[in-house]
Amino acid sequence: MTTLLELQGLNAWYGESHILHGVDMRVGEGETITILGRNGVGKTTTLRTITGIVRARKGKLIFAGEDMMQVPLHKTARRGIGFVPEERGIFSTLTVSENLLLPPIVASGGLTVDQIYELFPNLYERRNSAGTKLSGGEQQMLAIARILRTGVRMLLLDEPTEGLAPVIVQRIGEVLKQLKERGMTILLVEQNFRFASRIADRFYLMDHGQMVSEFPVGELPQRMDTLHKVLGV
Ligand SMILES: Nc1ncnc2c1ncn2[C@@H]1O[C@H](COP(=O)(O)OP(=O)(O)OP(=O)(O)O)[C@@H](O)[C@H]1O
Ligand SMILES: [Mg+2]
Repeated sequence: MTTLLELQGLNAWYGESHILHGVDMRVGEGETITILGRNGVGKTTTLRTITGIVRARKGKLIFAGEDMMQVPLHKTARRGIGFVPEERGIFSTLTVSENLLLPPIVASGGLTVDQIYELFPNLYERRNSAGTKLSGGEQQMLAIARILRTGVRMLLLDEPTEGLAPVIVQRIGEVLKQLKERGMTILLVEQNFRFASRIADRFYLMDHGQMVSEFPVGELPQRMDTLHKVLGV
């Protein structure tokens, strides 16, 4: 499988705080990867370092064969990396359809607005509602939906199911599965590994700013006891 994203010995800092201590990870083209780990181990920081939001970084970061250390933040989306942050970033004064049209197209191959509404019928129903009027689940769907238009090759999602009702979590799972079938590469940070196990091909377990283990979804059952202990869930 072709490697799309590769991290080798990635370090990152917030000011004086050294957060990532040599992260090694590989994501193949079309793979769905889930990063698991307790609170504060550096999962969000890993995503923010990949996108270039965190700039105090060292190590190797290659995306689609290109050294991303040299690419400025405003150009990472153009290179094909789409980031859905935990806080979602929906513009509250804009409607659903305006939010949807906001991010610029970076490459061909993205979904059309009609295809997006087909994938998210409830967003179609709420297309003229203001961002503030949306439920948490609808906001999460909109945050994912608007990136699909842009034609990115890889989606980074930070805890997309956090605080959402089971029926919405299931819907998001179905959408991610469909995106995966379309060939999208997905890197997901998720505490809910039951949800993650339905879509992920492989897992990375993170602790103290490093990836401490890596395993395919098929090994999840035999690793459950360890994971419960490490994750405290
Ligand atoms: N902007 C920041 N400035 C300074 N320190 C930060 C900042 N953001 C996070 N940290 C610290 O970096 C460490 C890793 O944080 P990070 O958000 O990456 O963890 P996480 O694994 O995503 O945790 P959670 O599961 O709670 O989301 C934590 O100790 C956190 O306090
Ligand atoms: Mg986090």
